[in-house]
Amino acid sequence: MWLTLLIVAFGLFVVFKITLISYRRRRYPEPHEDWSTIDLDDVSFPQGFRWGTATAAHQVEGNQINNWTVHEAAKGLEPSGAACEHWERWQDDFQLLSDLGMTSYRFSIEWSRLEPTEGVWEDDALAVYSAMVDDLLARGIRPVVTLHHFSHPDWWEAKGGFADRANLPSFVAYCERVFEALSDRVTTWVTINEPTVFSTMGYTVGMFPPGKRSIPLTLRVMRNLLLAHGIVYRALKGKNPDVSIGVAKNVTLFDPKNRWSPIDWPLARLLEWFWNGAWRSGIQRGRMWFRDVPEAKGALDFVGLNYYTHVLTGLSLPALRHMKFQKRSQEIATEFGYPMYAEGLRRAIEFLAPLGVPIEITENGVADKNDTLRTEHLKRHLWVLSEAIAAGHDVRSYHHWSLMDNFEWAEGYSMRFGLYEVDFETQNRTLRGSGEVYRDVVAKV
Ligand code: FCB
Repeated sequence: MWLTLLIVAFGLFVVFKITLISYRRRRYPEPHEDWSTIDLDDVSFPQGFRWGTATAAHQVEGNQINNWTVHEAAKGLEPSGAACEHWERWQDDFQLLSDLGMTSYRFSIEWSRLEPTEGVWEDDALAVYSAMVDDLLARGIRPVVTLHHFSHPDWWEAKGGFADRANLPSFVAYCERVFEALSDRVTTWVTINEPTVFSTMGYTVGMFPPGKRSIPLTLRVMRNLLLAHGIVYRALKGKNPDVSIGVAKNVTLFDPKNRWSPIDWPLARLLEWFWNGAWRSGIQRGRMWFRDVPEAKGALDFVGLNYYTHVLTGLSLPALRHMKFQKRSQEIATEFGYPMYAEGLRRAIEFLAPLGVPIEITENGVADKNDTLRTEHLKRHLWVLSEAIAAGHDVRSYHHWSLMDNFEWAEGYSMRFGLYEVDFETQNRTLRGSGEVYRDVVAKV
């Protein structure tokens, strides 16, 4: 009883302190541009800047058997099924990349294809990924390989997955195997996609596998992901120090709905710390949630930035569980529900800059089935990016999410993020108008 009171009092004190410091220093402005006065075509990018798109194995390949397919069935979600049949059609899909003039492509490896049963390796599947790499290189496209993008074998999930650090050696063994096969040609590696999204959606909100809802478990998974990244980083660098290894970090910004509310403001700061700050300081200090994770300290050659939006915090926050987002009056709501807030891309870059490594935009895009918003969305974000680079930020690439419509996790096929529209009956891909715009921007700059 007394201990609980003490902890609560300490928590309140910390919140009070953060609020006070934030007010005094005015550290968290929330800029908004007057977009009607901005020439969105006035952009420039440095020589060698890479243009790309991104996908993930479970979302495009089709016919997986992994933690996600089990979760889809258990929760009655729309099944991923054949997805984009990319496992069979990847050569044609890579032609789509060439048609867009891409110079970089981010994709992920499906561990459950390589090790469907513990200890049993399917080298044929690895050979397919190897052929993909060759094909991309022959097209002049840099492959960016993600080792873990939300999906893994179900046998590993059954053992507790990332919730149990005793499971990490099998994850590391998988990463090493892929690295040994591809690192003679792949120079840019992402260990883990969006550690905070993975842990929060799977262990707090329960919408992702394993569908749990426990804060202590969430914190443990977050820390184990940091540890897993650190161990894999060191193991792979030990094999080939010349490659570049990073994490794809989802930076979602949290802003108080009402600036002067004693609830909204500290809530924003707390969530900002939980979502973004804890991870950044984990890399900087090798420590997370009161425990040392020395393996992670400085374990980063570049940082991948996945940027989508900001979240307005306040008493309505629990509605987020049902994907109900707030927005400012001048902001446009996207199909997913969250607002389009391109100005936040600059803030997200500034947030990552203290890590002192180059930034790659590993994801940015919008769900927009009828393609009414994507062109504006793309152009605003590219304008913000161009300004950030002009101001001296070291950003090396932009990968649009996504090349084509695909399986959008808990939302199934309802959210369409593709530059190419996919007809899932016929598997036809059709370039959207916004895709033409992206192609033309890339050709011009
Ligand atoms: C990100 C995921 C990516 C995709 C986009 C829309 O959080 O990394 O796989 O689903 O959101």
